[in-house]
Amino acid sequence: MKELLQKIESARRSVQGGQVDVELDALLGQLTDQTGRVMREHEGMAEELLGLYEQLGAVFEIARKLPQVRDENEVVQLLRNTVEESFSRHLVGVVWPKDDAEFDFRLEWWPKCDPRQCEWLNSLLRDSVAEASILVRDVPKTECLAGLIQVMTAPVACGSDLVCILVIGRNDAALELRASDMSLLEILCTFSGDLIANIRLHHQLRQISVDLVLSLVCAIDQKDPYTSGHSMRVGHYAKSLGQELGQNAEELQMLEWSALLHDVGKIGIRDDVLKKAGKLTEEEFNHIKEHPVRSFEVVSRVPQLRAALDGIRHHHERYDGKGYPDGLKGEGIPLQARVIQVADIFDALTSSRSYRKAFDWQKALSIIAEESGTVVDPHLGAVFTKMIRRRFENDPQAWEAMTRYGQSSGGGAADAETAGATSTDGGASDAAASSGAGASTAAGASAATGAGGEQTGS
Ligand SMILES: [Fe+2]
Ligand SMILES: [Fe+2]
Repeated sequence: MKELLQKIESARRSVQGGQVDVELDALLGQLTDQTGRVMREHEGMAEELLGLYEQLGAVFEIARKLPQVRDENEVVQLLRNTVEESFSRHLVGVVWPKDDAEFDFRLEWWPKCDPRQCEWLNSLLRDSVAEASILVRDVPKTECLAGLIQVMTAPVACGSDLVCILVIGRNDAALELRASDMSLLEILCTFSGDLIANIRLHHQLRQISVDLVLSLVCAIDQKDPYTSGHSMRVGHYAKSLGQELGQNAEELQMLEWSALLHDVGKIGIRDDVLKKAGKLTEEEFNHIKEHPVRSFEVVSRVPQLRAALDGIRHHHERYDGKGYPDGLKGEGIPLQARVIQVADIFDALTSSRSYRKAFDWQKALSIIAEESGTVVDPHLGAVFTKMIRRRFENDPQAWEAMTRYGQSSGGGAADAETAGATSTDGGASDAAASSGAGASTAAGASAATGAGGEQTGS
């Protein structure tokens, strides 16, 4: 385009042998002006297009990353990073609401401004809550706002809840915040707010699922007061052991679900068998041994818990292959099940039964040690032992608290007391245990049968 203007100028001078015709000169002058205007408009459009392209890039980038974020603080952090990249020559800050009328923040790039003092700023922030975005072009020339030329704000909201307000400041005369910048900030903040709403919804739904599972666990404990809190404690021990093994968050979550629900199939076991005081008949014994498969069938109806099924179905397998329901052996038993089995045995041994008082944790660990390699995976038994020793050796109160853990959300403390006070329930389920190892459940049952025996009933 510059070349074209030079040619026009040259043409003006060459007309009539270097003499400039006045009329023609005027026309060429107009043409030059218009061409110049078009050029400037084009340059402006090119700049705007470049800006839009950059905005699109920012929106695309945050759209790509946001779905991977699971926590609302991470959403705000990602939003802030994206805004800082898009407005790299401006000042970017996040303001958090303190309550309806106040905002709790200090923008590091705006240290002189105290939000508790500055009514202008508080007023701007209050207005920002209701507006998609605000661009202030005439910042007051007060001391605390010194240096600021423009300020732009946009809220991140989740429904009617304000999450935070993004604030962008401009202190460079050469940079100008425009309407298109407001659009970008609005899009990014709206996008983030929607995702936070989804995250909150997801958490609510998850909490409902957790509550439903705990209700189910409670129902099991109500059915068999002797196991009050058992599922919760097994869940806790199993998850702790999983952490010792370095399992990731997803594995730990499924391990915990699996442990919480491992005995849910006991709901389908007849009361007269579950609570029988005396020795079980073969038919009763076989009936109670159905509970892992019953648990498996109940939980397999929930697709989201598919990864928890191994531990549920196989928590009564034994390392030597003499367990049930499938007689799996050694490491052929899924790891999740082997972890739950150790936790299950430990809790059964440290819980009171009608025929004996609870063993202390030291005795329970010694029984687990004796059962290692036959009932229990020896490696897991060793890791579990180390973990329990570390936790309770010098902290009797922690142990005391753990023995009560889960009772209030399961059968309740009253159930636990009832269980300790009565002796009519025979612990038939413990006896059923045996997996062929003998149903003797007298207190101090030999290590050889103790763990296997206790475990089956737990
Ligand atoms: Fe159990
Ligand atoms: Fe069980």
